Amino acid sequence: MEGPKVTRAIVLHVDRRDRSAPPSSERAAEARLEEAVGLALAIDLEIADRIIAPVTAPRPSTLIGSGKVAEIAERVKVTEAELVVVNAQLSPIQQRNLEKEWGSKVLDRTGLILEIFGRRASTREGTLQVELAHLQYQKSRLVRSWTHLERQRGGFGFLGGPGESQLEADRRIIQERINRIEKQLESVVKTRALHRKGRARVPYPVIALVGYTNAGKSTLFNRLSGAGVLAKDLLFATLDPTMRVIELPHGRKVIISDTVGFISDLPTSLIAAFRATLEEVLSADVILHVRDVAHADAEAQAEDVDRVLEELGIDELRRSHIIEVWNKLDLLPAEERAAREAQALRKPGCVLVSAVTGEGLPALLELVEGRLGAADTVYEILLDPEDGQGQAWLHDRGEVLSRRNYEDGRILMKVRLGSDRAGQAQARFGNAMKLLGQRRAAAE
Ligand code: GTP
Repeated sequence: MEGPKVTRAIVLHVDRRDRSAPPSSERAAEARLEEAVGLALAIDLEIADRIIAPVTAPRPSTLIGSGKVAEIAERVKVTEAELVVVNAQLSPIQQRNLEKEWGSKVLDRTGLILEIFGRRASTREGTLQVELAHLQYQKSRLVRSWTHLERQRGGFGFLGGPGESQLEADRRIIQERINRIEKQLESVVKTRALHRKGRARVPYPVIALVGYTNAGKSTLFNRLSGAGVLAKDLLFATLDPTMRVIELPHGRKVIISDTVGFISDLPTSLIAAFRATLEEVLSADVILHVRDVAHADAEAQAEDVDRVLEELGIDELRRSHIIEVWNKLDLLPAEERAAREAQALRKPGCVLVSAVTGEGLPALLELVEGRLGAADTVYEILLDPEDGQGQAWLHDRGEVLSRRNYEDGRILMKVRLGSDRAGQAQARFGNAMKLLGQRRAAAE
């Protein structure tokens, strides 16, 4: 009766009632469960059942209580599920015990997120990073279960049974692969840094797309780069496939950059692994936060994205300047659409679009262009003859418009700086810096 082979899975949300997390970050267990189901669907699992397990006193051996463990074992049998996705972090021992109790495979939240990232990673760097995170995750599991075994045997680990040497061999193989990937990553990162340096000399602002997984970033990215006049520029021929140069309505060129999708409760170790991918966001001139407004959980997802941006080190002021792109407008029923439109009108820096139909995209581009215009200010800076570093600083971070040498050796530079750089420049050059006024690139 069944078609092609799909994995049947039970999704279990562990509702920790003992957590002293701030109340604003708590979400109803139901919504959390639905979110986990959504993630499970993203890796094409067939959902056999969905269950919530409230936990007040986590058990070291199985995390959840024995009654619930037995109940789920029964559900696994009845539904013939091959996998249980546990929406929580499990210790290696908990994972193994649960697998034994249920006679199925068990995937915890980190494992699930790694699976998703693994499928979505499109750049070479992204793929390598996911693989590295995966191996490190596996290695930690092997190491810990190995020590556990050793303890059970009363500490005679040296003697080494066949099982143990297998584990050691596994560990060594994993470590070798980790070393190899780290080396490859290093060279990819170096090349990227070179590209970024090359770009810094070209005064094209970077527009970074961020958003919850499945919000529509890639669709918007393709739409924007496909619909606009794609600037074929040799300099960018080697760009990462997740970056493209497009022209805004008034002719200004920008680089748009797609990023990896965010997920709530992203384990800290994974945030570290994806930092490099997200570096583009940190240095972006404008950040677009793409939101799926047709999603029932849209508000909570937006909070999660905001939290990740904060963890990445983007301060509140910058976060308040992020443009919110309310996507999937085409999916909203008429009434909700009208309500959203009214809401968007009251909220500056927010625009309703459909990446699929293209509706709202001209307004979005106008908004981006306006932001860039407003952000750019032209300054005159008088440099001492010996301040070669100061000149280099301005070339790297701004667009040098003109330069005049005085007889006494001093140099007057006219530079356009983004608002985020202006403060740094002020700190560096102090009184030698004079504001000339704001100028819209479009008007040039
Ligand atoms: P990640 O790669 O997980 O970060 O996802 P993403 O944010 O890049 O989302 P993606 O562009 O892959 O879109 C996810 C799904 O939403 C796809 O099935 C798209 O076709 C769909 N989608 C994106 N934008 C729209 C939209 O405006 N309207 C509708 N109806 N569907 C959309």
